[in-house]
Amino acid sequence: MTKHAGYVFKKKTIRDIEVHGKRILLRADFNVPLNKDDNSISSDYRISQTIPTIKYLIDRQCEVVIISHLGRPDGKKNSNLSLEQVAKRLEQLIETPINFVFDCVTDVTTQALKKLNPGSVTVLENVRFHAEEEDNDPEFAKKLIKAINPDYIVHDEFGVIHRAHASTEGISHLVPAVAGLLLEKEITTLLSAVEDPARPLVAVLGGAKISDKLPLVERFLDTADLVLIGGAMANNFIKSNGHNVGKSLIDDNGGVEVKAIVTKAKPNQLVLPSDVAISDQISAKSDRRDCGLDEVGDKDIILDLGYETMRTYLKHIKSASTVIWNGNLGMTELTKFAVGSEMMAEALSKQSGSTETIIGGGDTADFVLDWLTKHPEGKFSHISTGGGASLELLSGNKLPGVEALLDA
Ligand code: 3PG
Repeated sequence: MTKHAGYVFKKKTIRDIEVHGKRILLRADFNVPLNKDDNSISSDYRISQTIPTIKYLIDRQCEVVIISHLGRPDGKKNSNLSLEQVAKRLEQLIETPINFVFDCVTDVTTQALKKLNPGSVTVLENVRFHAEEEDNDPEFAKKLIKAINPDYIVHDEFGVIHRAHASTEGISHLVPAVAGLLLEKEITTLLSAVEDPARPLVAVLGGAKISDKLPLVERFLDTADLVLIGGAMANNFIKSNGHNVGKSLIDDNGGVEVKAIVTKAKPNQLVLPSDVAISDQISAKSDRRDCGLDEVGDKDIILDLGYETMRTYLKHIKSASTVIWNGNLGMTELTKFAVGSEMMAEALSKQSGSTETIIGGGDTADFVLDWLTKHPEGKFSHISTGGGASLELLSGNKLPGVEALLDA
């Protein structure tokens, strides 16, 4: 078993098996964002985070065969969602030639993999070009294994490990399966933060819908010293406290949840906005106006936290030993309303040396990775590669792809 911070990973990893010279089927999550205009890769973060596992296997003379999905092609071939350009980017990043095979499951793959060199890396075509993948069809899982013929499976696809698909879960019942270094790091880092964190633990929770985040908020009410609320999710709390929220986004299913959360919170544990930034429209031309909670008019839309709230939140961050941030704090697509999230990113980055700063995946990770391109000196302890997966994990749910791994 591997001990990391406060949480003990309970599954076998690549360090627990003898991989030397073996053929390894590596399931990665290369589901990278693509630019709308030219279909190029807009962030290779998910690819780069898999490199430690790939290098570990190359160094041990493995025949590394990588499968992944990209996008949601609905079980059909789609050249815009081919993994070929991902293979090329990986080749540049690891400075090692990569074979690419336009198939992952037929005789074409078997033939292409017939003679592989020790230490070679092959990337196969998008596994979601086959509808059976998402159906977790056992026959399809068998076909994948027959075509690739691995000695071991290494799962490093944290971003999609919450889905029970053929390549994330089904194949692990056919060939011994262990975790890669990224999967192990994601799970130990995120679970350490909720199960045995350095205290005080501050959870910063934002995003749009309170109903989506309810299990997460409840989990942090059990474990965090402070829970700071932002994003459109905060509107439900503001409204429930009797304030006018005008035309702001409100999760209609959220009323009951908010009451349950407020009842569950310990005294002073739940921290809500004391002021907000509003506009009368959602557009790049929108003017930002900061105001108190009682000044929001019928036509106003709350789009960010106010400066007074941010000062309070940053004060709490300063005294934290662990901070976990999940969900943007305002409408970050509009520069004027990205201020709260920017201030949070800057504060966390400044404290990274003394505080464990953990960024949940999905929109928050995208925001922070973009912020880092403008602030390359910025530092965070961990930026998760999984949106849905980190939400599921932090909410206390089991992840099917992890459950199917060999026990440590
Ligand atoms: C993600 O980007 O969240 C993962 O790759 C999973 O993708 P999916 O939501 O299409 O299953």
